[in-house]
Amino acid sequence: MGTVDTIIGNKNVQLFDFEPTTTDFLEDVAFGLSQPAKSLPSKYLYDFEGSRLFDEICRLPEYYPTRTEKAILEASARPVAEAAGEQTTIVELGSGSHHKISLLLDLLSNPAGYVAIDISREFMLSAVEQVKSKFPSLNVSAICADYTQLKELPNELSHSPASKLSFFPGSTIGNFTPQEAERFLKNWSGVLQSGDLFLCGVDLVKDVNVLESAYNDSQGTTAAFNINLLQRINRELGANFQLQQFKHRAIFNSELSRIEMHLVSLCDQDVSIGPSTHRFQFREGETIHTENSYKYTVDRFQEMVKRVGYSPLRLFTDPEDLFSIHLLRVN
Ligand code: TRP
Repeated sequence: MGTVDTIIGNKNVQLFDFEPTTTDFLEDVAFGLSQPAKSLPSKYLYDFEGSRLFDEICRLPEYYPTRTEKAILEASARPVAEAAGEQTTIVELGSGSHHKISLLLDLLSNPAGYVAIDISREFMLSAVEQVKSKFPSLNVSAICADYTQLKELPNELSHSPASKLSFFPGSTIGNFTPQEAERFLKNWSGVLQSGDLFLCGVDLVKDVNVLESAYNDSQGTTAAFNINLLQRINRELGANFQLQQFKHRAIFNSELSRIEMHLVSLCDQDVSIGPSTHRFQFREGETIHTENSYKYTVDRFQEMVKRVGYSPLRLFTDPEDLFSIHLLRVN
């Protein structure tokens, strides 16, 4: 943990490193697999390979959110730029890919800086490097962290007089439960300041078939992304998951308005993690719940943000109402 100036490419980017440790990872995995309904925290899906696979998911024909969000962003250029004004610092949450942020930076007039925050350090740095070469005079910082745990930005950044626009694309907000989302939003309004802006991508409720095929793509990329979590546990924690004995499954739970991602055990089996310390039993058909992706209506999302200190300023959607981008202001 700490601050390092890192030279990537030959351009200076300040890196603040709060990456979760292997001990955190082991504790979280052991806890999740000891529950009656097994689960794993979704943030661990994003190691380098996971982030790379996720980037691939974003380009799949079935995965409508990424291209729809980009189109909405392009179409909403002017009002976003006007609301942001000059000399705004852009703080991006989940900076795994540089495409959306480049789009946003293109729209703004004379931004003061760009702060990337992501849990996947190497992946973020390579994305940040691309932003830096596209916008050479931009002041760029990178924070490797679980942003739900951040209570404030590093001093160097929080003391800058520039107003901030925080960008949270990809409907990642939907990967929290509504209670977690509220808690996160509330915490984040404290990281930002009164008057700062928050631009948040939120996927909308829609036809179940469209939803389910977005998370069960025909090329099996989403399956590989999900299975990669077990591979990571094998590699980093010395576990012995037999990858071919688990299968990816994504279903829409309409009562809770969420896509659920599971890994299904294809037989009765035991898995151990680390040098014999942790042992877990799986029955055939038992699942590990690895991710949720909640789908909101515009009203439900706006009611939620209003409860935790934000005012909706503008709403942008696509003609088919697949996806929404909300421009909010911190009260
Ligand atoms: N934020 C993305 C979403 O909810 C994350 C995501 C997309 C995802 N596809 C996935 C997470 C597959 C796990 C597995 O759409």
